[in-house]
Amino acid sequence: MLNIPRPAATLIASLTMLVAASGWAFAAGILNSKHNLSMSGPGSIKATNEERVCIFCHTPHHANPLTPLWSRPTSTAVYDLYESTTLVAKPGQPSGSARLCLSCHDGTIALGAFYGTSDVIPMEGGVTTMPDSSSANLKTDLSNDHPISFAYSEELAMLNGQLSLPSSLPAKVRLEEGGMLQCTACHNPHTDPYGKFLVMDNAASALCKTCHNINGWNASIHATDPAVAAGCTHCHVSHNAGGRARLLKFAAEEANCYQCHSSSGGAKDIQSAASKFYSHPMEGTTGVHDPKEDPLSAQKHVECNDCHNPHKALATLATAPVVPGSLTGVKGVSSAGVVLSTDAANEYEVCFRCHSGNSFYAPQTVLRQIQELDTRLDFDPLNPSFHPVVAIGKGTNVPSLRTQFSTSSMIYCTDCHNNDDTLQAKGPHGSNNKHILIDRYEDDTYPLDYSEANYALCFRCHDQNILLDPVISAFPPHQSHVVNNKVPCSVCHDPHGVPQVRGASITANAHLINFDIRFVTSGGAYSSVGKSCTVSCHSGTKYY
Ligand code: HEC
Ligand code: HEC
Ligand code: HEC
Ligand code: HEC
Ligand code: HEC
Ligand code: HEC
Ligand code: HEC
Ligand code: HEC
Ligand code: HEC
Ligand code: HEC
Ligand code: HEC
Repeated sequence: MLNIPRPAATLIASLTMLVAASGWAFAAGILNSKHNLSMSGPGSIKATNEERVCIFCHTPHHANPLTPLWSRPTSTAVYDLYESTTLVAKPGQPSGSARLCLSCHDGTIALGAFYGTSDVIPMEGGVTTMPDSSSANLKTDLSNDHPISFAYSEELAMLNGQLSLPSSLPAKVRLEEGGMLQCTACHNPHTDPYGKFLVMDNAASALCKTCHNINGWNASIHATDPAVAAGCTHCHVSHNAGGRARLLKFAAEEANCYQCHSSSGGAKDIQSAASKFYSHPMEGTTGVHDPKEDPLSAQKHVECNDCHNPHKALATLATAPVVPGSLTGVKGVSSAGVVLSTDAANEYEVCFRCHSGNSFYAPQTVLRQIQELDTRLDFDPLNPSFHPVVAIGKGTNVPSLRTQFSTSSMIYCTDCHNNDDTLQAKGPHGSNNKHILIDRYEDDTYPLDYSEANYALCFRCHDQNILLDPVISAFPPHQSHVVNNKVPCSVCHDPHGVPQVRGASITANAHLINFDIRFVTSGGAYSSVGKSCTVSCHSGTKYY
């Protein structure tokens, strides 16, 4: 049912009566509120000697033709309107009662001004227009305020997909004629039992939720964790939003999250992790991320909301390659390089948003025979070898694997790229190790004295006692190379995989062989069939 105002005649009659008699139904509510601008008002903004309450907004005589018997002039301002790429509605210039509210709340017209005369009721402290210092001064820039002055129609609700039908709204959430959503959907200027003249209590964001039916919200950790019981208003505000589009409290995207996800915020501390030397540079850009962006052509950036959906995030665990709960509801790019039309099902699809097919790459450090920064190509299941992130690997003889892994295991990108302190919040937010690695991996120095710690990353999954044993290792010369001749793993192995589209072959590039050409300066031919190797270090060596 739409809340269309009563017929004008009744309205004028009742208003005339009420205004004349200062009808107590309205008066009782308003007297103790900031809208009592008479000298008896409780707020700091009030008249020096005007006793009448209703007169600031209504007059039975010489009224502004805008109903209901409006005493005030209305602003001629042209307002900046709310806009965003996700908004379906097309808000117009303020209309209906919004123009009445804005006759004080845009700060352009004296609070004591009257329609049709130059008389002005004098206010205490020489106040004329709504003071600049008051957060109630919304100014003429409404682009940081909840959108108003559009029809909240059934069609809009359907197109948006996350809105209740307007016919299901409770009576106190009033729409104006034509289903117009105005200030009065949320505020009742005559009574203030809930604070801020709200039409109902917004505890746990109950008001927001009468209209917004956000997909996935009810089950999400941000709705269910008792620490975030306030709901929407932790991240969103209705007015004066720091981040305009989508009304986020702070313009810097991550700042909204750091309210809680910091060392003092009470929730898992991501801020400290992200401030480590090697990190995803979330503070590097503001206002570049857009939920509607095409990840393959977007300008380079990374924000929490690229990898997380704060409306849908869960705290559940999963097994590779499936997304853990924290990544629920995020868009992704498939292993075929296509922007997915549904939420990412696998963690790597979230990473491929940016680490494939676009120009988000970090500067190259390790230079390899077959050079590739597109990680999607690195992990292509058609490659002669790859770590099993996108598909089960091609290695059949990997005796070094620790007992929890086998040649049919799959692993996450975040099994390698993660916080180096495993007691802190998990995730590829930041690490003290290069390339945001969970453990140390020395890949820039040859020769390098052997120490277990240098290759701790690999030894998380591969047992060095097997790997470096000249008898049981699948590559018996590991020990002579890595320990005796101080050759780091990375001189021979690529940690990701070797792309066949760039010429990798099963003979030369099985077992993740892809030489570092800073050290293997010529030759660099390994045959996994002939088990022989020709490199600048030696030639044609057969190891068995
Ligand atoms: C701060 C401004 C303000 C003050 C003060 C104010 N009103 Fe209103 N009033 C409005 C606005 C705006 C509307 C139209 C929007 C709406 O319906 O809430 C309105 C609408 C009305 C209506 C018709 C709509 C309805 O809800 O049925 C009546 C009757 C009314 N006011 C009576 C009064 C009386 C009586 C007083 C004094 C006790 C008063 N108002 C004081 C702003 C004010
Ligand atoms: C006659 C001028 C006037 C009109 C018209 C008016 N207001 Fe206000 N309003 C004020 C003043 C003055 C304050 C107090 C500001 C302050 O204390 O800083 C205020 C405060 C508020 C507040 C904040 C209350 C709080 O507790 O902080 C809200 C919300 C509000 N108005 C909403 C509205 C809405 C919605 C309308 C239209 C339906 C409206 N006002 C019309 C003058 C007006
Ligand atoms: C969709 C709901 C909604 C609409 C529409 C809406 N408001 Fe509000 N408004 C709120 C809520 C919720 C708050 C309380 C915010 C808070 O607690 O920070 C609020 C707060 C305010 C405040 C107090 C600001 C402060 O920080 O003290 C004013 C003034 C105000 N609104 C005026 C308006 C006016 C004028 C309009 C129309 C131009 C309007 N509102 C439209 C929901 C709304
Ligand atoms: C009376 C119904 C109603 C209430 C109450 C309401 N909203 Fe809205 N809100 C809407 C409608 C309708 C839209 C327009 C959606 C669209 O066009 O896609 C909207 C738009 C928004 C947008 C902008 C969306 C975008 O895609 O840019 C945000 C953010 C928002 N609301 C947050 C809130 C919050 C937070 C609250 C509680 C303080 C709230 N709303 C209360 C109806 C409401
Ligand atoms: C933990 C923070 C957080 C909470 C809590 C939250 N939101 Fe959001 N919301 C966001 C962020 C961040 C975006 C923008 C996402 C992006 O840029 O990719 C957003 C986007 C939106 C949008 C734009 C359309 C869309 O779905 O992207 C609406 C509408 C919205 N939120 C309403 C709400 C409502 C209503 C609630 C409460 C039921 C709520 N939000 C709770 C952070 C939050
Ligand atoms: C009002 C506080 C608050 C804000 C603001 C907030 N969060 Fe949370 N968040 C929590 C709490 C509490 C949990 C529950 C687990 C925990 O302690 O981290 C949580 C959990 C999460 C989880 C799931 C964690 C898991 O255990 O797997 C993700 C992901 C997340 N938040 C992301 C965000 C993002 C992104 C933002 C900013 C858009 C944000 N949060 C803003 C309080 C908050
Ligand atoms: C929204 C884009 C985006 C997404 C999604 C993304 N990244 Fe990144 N990533 C970046 C940007 C930007 C950098 C910094 C590049 C630079 O330093 O210039 C980066 C850097 C990195 C680095 C450091 C590279 C280096 O050599 O120092 C690693 C490792 C990384 N990302 C892994 C991941 C993983 C794993 C995922 C998926 C869980 C992921 N990224 C998802 C944008 C993204
Ligand atoms: C999170 C666990 C994990 C980590 C960390 C890890 N690996 Fe692996 N690795 C595996 C699994 C599982 C396989 C088996 C895949 C297969 O059978 O193809 C494997 C296989 C291999 C293979 C054999 C591939 C083939 O096709 O024969 C090589 C070589 C290898 N890893 C080298 C490394 C190096 C070097 C590091 C350190 C940079 C490393 N691994 C770190 C899990 C891991
Ligand atoms: C001199 C080059 C070279 C170096 C240095 C090297 N490897 Fe290898 N590694 C190989 C070759 C060649 C194979 C494949 C042998 C074959 O054809 O089966 C191999 C096989 C492997 C395998 C798969 C077989 C198994 O034993 O499970 C793993 C895992 C592996 N290497 C890890 C490492 C790690 C970790 C390091 C550093 C600590 C390292 N490699 C250093 C050349 C090297
Ligand atoms: C087995 C461990 C491991 C896995 C799994 C892994 N990486 Fe890496 N990654 C590394 C190492 C080690 C480096 C450092 C470069 C080197 O040594 O060649 C690296 C480098 C990077 C870089 C820097 C650019 C480059 O290519 O050198 C990015 C970006 C990156 N990884 C993203 C990813 C993404 C996205 C995934 C999952 C799709 C992933 N990584 C899976 C170990 C891994
Ligand atoms: C590049 C992608 C990426 C970005 C950017 C990112 N995260 Fe994460 N985050 C992840 C991944 C992947 C995980 C899951 C790690 C795991 O389960 O091992 C995660 C985990 C989390 C968790 C759960 C931690 C735990 O210990 O379970 C929270 C909370 C979280 N992120 C919040 C945030 C916040 C807040 C931001 C922005 C400041 C952010 N993330 C930015 C990828 C990202």
